[in-house]
Amino acid sequence: MKIGTPLSPSATRIMLLGAGELGKEVIIALQRLGVEVIAVDRYANAPGHQVAHRSHVINMTDAKALRALVEREKPQIIVPEIEAIATDELARIEAAGLAEVIPTARAAQLTMNREGIRRLAAEELGLATSRYAFAQSAGEVRMAAEALGYPCVIKPVMSSSGKGQSVAQSPEDIDKCWDYAVSAGRVQGGRVIVEEMIKFDYEITLLTVRALGENGKVKTSFCDPIGHVQVKGDYVESWQPQPMSETALWRARDIAKKVTDSLGGRGIFGVELFVKGDQVWFSEVSPRPHDTGMVTMITQVQNEFELHARAILGLPVCTDLRVHGASAVIYGGMDEKGIAFEGIEDALRVPHTDVRLFGKPESFSRRRMGVALAYAENIKEARQRAKLAASKVHPIKA
Ligand SMILES: Nc1ncnc2c1ncn2[C@@H]1O[C@H](COP(=O)(O)OP(=O)(O)OP(=O)(O)O)[C@@H](O)[C@H]1O
Ligand SMILES: [Mg+2]
Repeated sequence: MKIGTPLSPSATRIMLLGAGELGKEVIIALQRLGVEVIAVDRYANAPGHQVAHRSHVINMTDAKALRALVEREKPQIIVPEIEAIATDELARIEAAGLAEVIPTARAAQLTMNREGIRRLAAEELGLATSRYAFAQSAGEVRMAAEALGYPCVIKPVMSSSGKGQSVAQSPEDIDKCWDYAVSAGRVQGGRVIVEEMIKFDYEITLLTVRALGENGKVKTSFCDPIGHVQVKGDYVESWQPQPMSETALWRARDIAKKVTDSLGGRGIFGVELFVKGDQVWFSEVSPRPHDTGMVTMITQVQNEFELHARAILGLPVCTDLRVHGASAVIYGGMDEKGIAFEGIEDALRVPHTDVRLFGKPESFSRRRMGVALAYAENIKEARQRAKLAASKVHPIKA
C-alpha cells in the first residue's frame, strides 16, 4: 500500500461521485490520509465541494459527461456517494481499467434499482425479505396488493430517502399511491415494487466493512447495530448500539455477510434489516456509508467515514464501539438560500454533545442541514440529549 503526495505526479487521486454530508465526511477522512480528492455533485458548493482539492458540477446520470470528467481527472479510484449515477458507464470505466469503482461497479448497478438488489437478495441468495411484486400500472399494483394483503408499501424502483413511497391501507388508496410513486420516481415510466408491510419490533442498520486483512484477503467486520426512527422513509434519529437478542444479531450478521460477499469489493455497506423477536428480514443495502451511521461520529473509535476511507485504501480497520450514543437530524425548516443557524451554543451546552452543520447552500423545509450527536451511559439518555441539542439549533433567514 502506497499513498503519494497530493497535487503532485505521485498523488493518490480519488473521485467522489456525490458530495453531500456523507461524502464530505469521507473526503475529510481521505484528506487526513493525504489523498488528493476530487468532489463531484449536480450543484455548486455542495458540502463535499467545500473540503475537496477540486470540485466539479455535472449531471452524473449523463454517461458522456461522467466519462469525460473521469478521463480528464484520471482518478485511480471512484467512490459513488449517491445512487443516481450512470452506473453502466461506471461499469465500462471499470472494465476499461480507467479506475477502480468502490465497492464495485456491479454493486452500484444492482443497488441503484430496488429490483436488482431485491432479486439478488431474495431469489439468488435466498435471504428472508418482505414478500413483493413489481408493477407498471395502477392495475398491476392493485393485483399485487390483493395478493400481498393490506397494508402494503409502494415504492418507485428508483428512488431514495423515501421519495415516492407510500402505504396503501385499502384498495381505495392504490390510485393515489401509484400517482405519488410515478411523480417522484427518479426515472419516468413508472416501475414500482409493492411490498408486504413487515410489522417489525425495530429496524437496524448493520454497518458491514470489507477491508483487507493481514494476508491481503478481504475480511468482513461488523459495527454494533444502529437503531433508527424513519418518518416518511427518511431518517430522523439513530442510536448505537441497538439491543438485540443473540439469535437476531447472529442472523443479521449472517444476512449482511451474504449480501456484502455477493456485492464484493472493498468499503463499508449499510445493511438495512427489520427485526421482530428473533426473526430478521433483509430490506436493502447501501454500498457506502449510511445516513443513520452518522451516529458513529460520536460512538466509534473509527467512524463509518474513516472505516470507508481505510477500506478503500486497503488499510486495516477497527469497528470498536467507544460509548453509547445517538444522533438527531437538524432540518432547514424553510425554503431559502444562504440561511444561518442560531442557538448552537445552547445545543453544545447540553452535556456530551456535538453538532455538524453541513454547509448546504440552499435550505428546504425538510432538508437535512445538520445533525446533533450525543453520548451517554445508555441509549435512552443519549437519544434525549441528541434530540434536545438538535432542538436548540434554529435555522433563520440570514
Ligand atoms: N416492507 C416494509 N415493511 C415495513 N416498513 C417498511 C417496508 N419498506 C419500507 N419500510 C419503512 O420505510 C423506510 C424506508 O424504506 P426504504 O429503506 O426501502 O426506502 P428508501 O427510500 O431507500 O429510504 P432510504 O434511502 O432513507 O434508506 C424503512 O426504513 C422502513 O421504516
Ligand atoms: Mg432505506
